[in-house]
Amino acid sequence: MSQPQIAVIGAGLIGQRHAAIVRQRSNLAALVDPSDAARTLARDWDVPWFPDLSEYLKTHRPDGAIIATPNQLHRDHGLACIAAGVPVLIEKPLADTSAAARDLTQAAEAEGVPVLVGHHRRHNPIIAAARATIQNGDLGQIVSVHAQFWLYKPDEYFDVDWRTQIGAGPVFINLIHDIDLLRHLCGDITSVQARQSSVTRRHAVEDTAVILLEFAKGALGTVNVSDSIVAPWSWEMTAAENPAYPATKATCYTIGGTHGSLSVPDLGLWQHPETRSWWAPIAAKQVSHSAEDPLHRQHDHFCAVIRGTEAPLVSGAEGLATLRVIEAIKEAAETGQTVDLR
Ligand SMILES: NC(=O)c1ccc[n+]([C@@H]2O[C@H](COP(=O)([O-])OP(=O)(O)OC[C@H]3O[C@@H](n4cnc5c(N)ncnc54)[C@H](O)[C@@H]3O)[C@@H](O)[C@H]2O)c1
Repeated sequence: MSQPQIAVIGAGLIGQRHAAIVRQRSNLAALVDPSDAARTLARDWDVPWFPDLSEYLKTHRPDGAIIATPNQLHRDHGLACIAAGVPVLIEKPLADTSAAARDLTQAAEAEGVPVLVGHHRRHNPIIAAARATIQNGDLGQIVSVHAQFWLYKPDEYFDVDWRTQIGAGPVFINLIHDIDLLRHLCGDITSVQARQSSVTRRHAVEDTAVILLEFAKGALGTVNVSDSIVAPWSWEMTAAENPAYPATKATCYTIGGTHGSLSVPDLGLWQHPETRSWWAPIAAKQVSHSAEDPLHRQHDHFCAVIRGTEAPLVSGAEGLATLRVIEAIKEAAETGQTVDLR
């Protein structure tokens, strides 16, 4: 196959970025989105436009499809593509509930159609380098990890009603990215405890949460999330991945092991050069990494998945497992109970 023909379903904020990358790096088969804005964009770009996915699939069979519609539509749109045998890249979260996500993973397995979930940060070369450092054994056995998502969303962000209501909130909207990276770096999460608070903004959803994680390999984790703190310690404001956010030199994750620890995304690897002891000198080495837009890398990987030359880096099962942790955090925060994920 030469460069695949890829349709973009849902041409909103992120769908338009996907579509622009597809136009640049492979072939944009169509935009499928009922909005006037999508229709105008398709006309400007001179690509076919369709208002409805089922209608489109009755007469067309792209090599792949990117689903960037609202979360509640991922299940039905994903199932339609899978039934048509079209490999899909489904934006995160894989679906709005883990039950809906499971419908997708089961259908994909039954039909043998690959699903890639749009947790694009895993494609960031910083994360690839961090993962290689951990897997090389440079940290020894992982003992503990701390992750932070602290930033301030401007008050007008909440003028859009759904952002203050149940189903929104930084745990579901933002933390899912961080949890996915922690799983990618440190392995499966087996239990969760959490507290949440809405005292700062007084919306129906949390503005702040603190979370305890237990990993399958025995490590413990703490996560602290708030969209109401003026601070730089978030992936958004440290990784320089998206020009929409100012970049700082701060860090957002620290991962500690028996032989070293790693700060992310600046990739400082701290070790005792001679003796592992709090009395001995300790120094940081810089772990090197290439610089490439993770959305570009995700696109190129999706093309390889379509061709069948690579297995999805973030499979449906991985997207489902990350979503289950997020649901467990919400449940733990609401009930005060530990939620077991085994
Ligand atoms: N990976 C990331 O960093 C990232 C960033 C933003 C959004 N997302 C995810 O992408 C998805 C879309 O988010 P967004 O911010 O772009 O939303 P958006 O509201 O900007 O865009 C959604 C688009 O879907 C279209 N749509 C609605 N119903 C449709 C239907 N039945 N068929 C086809 N199109 C339909 C809308 O007209 C709109 O253009 C969400 O799942 C979100 O979580 C991921």
